Amino acid sequence: MTPGQRLSVTVNGTERGLAGTDPATNALDWLRGQGLTGAKEGCAEGECGACAVLVARPDGGSGTEWTAVNACLVPAASLDGQEVVTAEGLGTPDHLHPVQHEMAVRGGSQCGYCTPGFVCSMAAEYYRADRQDDTARVGSDAHESGPNGFRLGALSGNLCRCTGYRPIRDAAFALASPAADDVLALRRSDAPRPPVGTRLSGDTGTYARAADLDEALDLLTDHPDAVVVAGSTDWGVDVSLRGARARFVIGIDRLPELRRVEVGDDAVEIGAALTLTELERELAGRIPLLDQVFPQFASRLIRNGATLGGNVGTASPIGDLPPALLALEAVVVLASPDGDRQVPLADYWTGYRQSVRRPDELIRAVRIPLPLSPTTAFHKIAKRRYDDISSVAVAVALDVVDGSVRRARIGLGGVAATPVRALATEAALEGRAWTTSTVQAAAEVMRGEGTPLDDHRASAAYRSAVLGTSLLRVLADEQPERRVDA
Ligand SMILES: Cc1cc2nc3c(=O)[nH]c(=O)nc-3n(C[C@H](O)[C@H](O)[C@H](O)COP(=O)(O)OP(=O)(O)OC[C@H]3O[C@@H](n4cnc5c(N)ncnc54)[C@H](O)[C@@H]3O)c2cc1C
Ligand code: FES
Ligand code: FES
Repeated sequence: MTPGQRLSVTVNGTERGLAGTDPATNALDWLRGQGLTGAKEGCAEGECGACAVLVARPDGGSGTEWTAVNACLVPAASLDGQEVVTAEGLGTPDHLHPVQHEMAVRGGSQCGYCTPGFVCSMAAEYYRADRQDDTARVGSDAHESGPNGFRLGALSGNLCRCTGYRPIRDAAFALASPAADDVLALRRSDAPRPPVGTRLSGDTGTYARAADLDEALDLLTDHPDAVVVAGSTDWGVDVSLRGARARFVIGIDRLPELRRVEVGDDAVEIGAALTLTELERELAGRIPLLDQVFPQFASRLIRNGATLGGNVGTASPIGDLPPALLALEAVVVLASPDGDRQVPLADYWTGYRQSVRRPDELIRAVRIPLPLSPTTAFHKIAKRRYDDISSVAVAVALDVVDGSVRRARIGLGGVAATPVRALATEAALEGRAWTTSTVQAAAEVMRGEGTPLDDHRASAAYRSAVLGTSLLRVLADEQPERRVDA
């Protein structure tokens, strides 16, 4: 931030200052404090989407994508210098936005509490640049999108308690393309505003956004107790629900050095601050195992904020990417003022929520070695299809050559204090014929992997049982003629 520059967010086209805002204040509370009470607090933990707003984010090229995020999770200070649109900015009672109009005329709103959030998520999909009419849609997931190309997954982070989802779906599927003079559609052609350095101090502490990696590392050296925050989908829950406060927060979500995908001959290096949504777009199917993870990871709203680095950095035993990255034999690239060091992911976590990362280090990237194993699978067992943390996650990457398993890599989540490799199961597969009997024997070994616990998500016995069926499912999916009774 240059001296004298005032901290502000452009909301619905009007610049609003952040002066006097506490750094722990989330964007939802800040917007509502500004009188913009359309966005609501339902859960304050990213589950309901009542707080959704649109933020102008890079579209992967030179333009802007209107991206819906959970305002209850992101610090207001992290939006300094950015453009936000709320439900109030989409339309007015006299001039409804097409999304608001369709929701109204098709009965998509009853009490209305969830509606501004639905409208923002729906508007993000309305403005998706590659949304195209698709009247000939076919296949088992054809019901997941409308004839107008609207993907219902865009609403996976929004809950409604009273209307029922059919009228909301009808509204979504009735949307045409934006008009030629639609201001928000036209805005997409220009780049979003570049990230700015930010420093906001208040009673609870300071929020600082560095302009580049070197400055972020200097800040980390000066403030070894600082909390590093990227998408804030974990940290934001701690702040909103558990009263967590940090004397110093370093926002790293827009650091250019952490937002690249580099494809080399021997590895794909993925920047830690790319969101899951951006990752899916940037990788464009290059890593099929990750493509299986993306749609099962939380909701679109969360994936629009959640980063790869945050999923590894939070060191949770039940994150979705870690098992997949373990199966891919990923390596963590840690940056510090001394330069980069690389740590195999399998050696990264040292205990529950603990890792080898030093206080002066950031996760800069994750490297995935090439070539990739051709047979991959990701099984997430959770109570809900969308927007739920896994009870157990299993990721498998196999090289089957001439009918035998040359290499097996299996990552597990939810069965130990950290994500783990299923080393005994890998050994039970490698060098053996890829047959039902091998897989049945290996499945028994897998049943005993890890040290699963009973908790509110699942019992230890259930977790072990799930482990015992996963490989059989891989075989059945690979070779349907060898379907076995699990
Ligand atoms: C409703 C909801 C649903 C969810 N569902 C899922 C799910 O299905 N699967 C799943 O895996 N997770 C899920 N999560 C958890 C969360 O979205 C992920 O863990 C996410 O990847 C965190 O990324 P973030 O950028 O938001 O992290 P933040 O909240 O910004 O940070 C999380 C932690 O990582 C550290 N950190 C972040 N980036 C770095 C870095 N570059 N270097 C060092 N440390 C870093 C931070 O210091 C912090 O301790 C869910 C969360 C919510 C609220
Ligand atoms: S208030 Fe429920 S997701 Fe934000
Ligand atoms: S309209 Fe009442 S919660 Fe959705």
